[in-house]
Amino acid sequence: MDSNWRSTPVEVREGIRYLSAHFYPEGMMSRWSELKKLSFNAAKMIKLYSLQQVIEELEHFDFFKEYFKEEPLKDVKLPPSYIELFDGLIQDFKTANWKDNVATRFHMITEGVLATVGLKILNETSKKYGLNKFNEGIRAIIEDEARHVNFGFSLIENKEYAIKRIEELFPLAVRIVKEGKEKIEPMGYNVDELIGLMEDLKRARIEKISSLSK
Ligand SMILES: [Fe+2]
Ligand SMILES: [Fe+2]
Repeated sequence: MDSNWRSTPVEVREGIRYLSAHFYPEGMMSRWSELKKLSFNAAKMIKLYSLQQVIEELEHFDFFKEYFKEEPLKDVKLPPSYIELFDGLIQDFKTANWKDNVATRFHMITEGVLATVGLKILNETSKKYGLNKFNEGIRAIIEDEARHVNFGFSLIENKEYAIKRIEELFPLAVRIVKEGKEKIEPMGYNVDELIGLMEDLKRARIEKISSLSK
């Protein structure tokens, strides 16, 4: 934790904690234990960068866990839409076309849209308030996540299906941001503008999928 954490405005601290809990949902880690097993099994089948990605995700958990050691994130309440997104991921791993399903829900929507926006807010806010240790950790995660999204494109087998599914899942991602309005807007962000940014990111991901030679 940064030495100036406690002198940072309370609404900023609350917003940072709220968004951080989306990256490290400490209060629902029991749900993650099944996901962890599924992720490792999938990574063994995929090989390539996949195992490295799972390891990096666990390191991201550790960063937030360590940073908020004195103010654990387990009390942060996450919106129902967030839980829906992740429960859906467990189901996705169990489907026949799980590569397309996981790549769309996790790599494209969760990492490529939601996490990209969340990390941008965390990066800008921690920089603005001189939370240097936190900022350093967030910037490292941003670099990892860019690789994760790129890796996700290589998992896609059926382009048309993937594009259709990204469009189907997008409203759920929007709901997650809308349900966080009370925590996000006091940090100096407008939820409607963030949704605009999410639309841009979604469009860019879809354009890249369309251009894949598969
Ligand atoms: Fe991550
Ligand atoms: Fe990631």
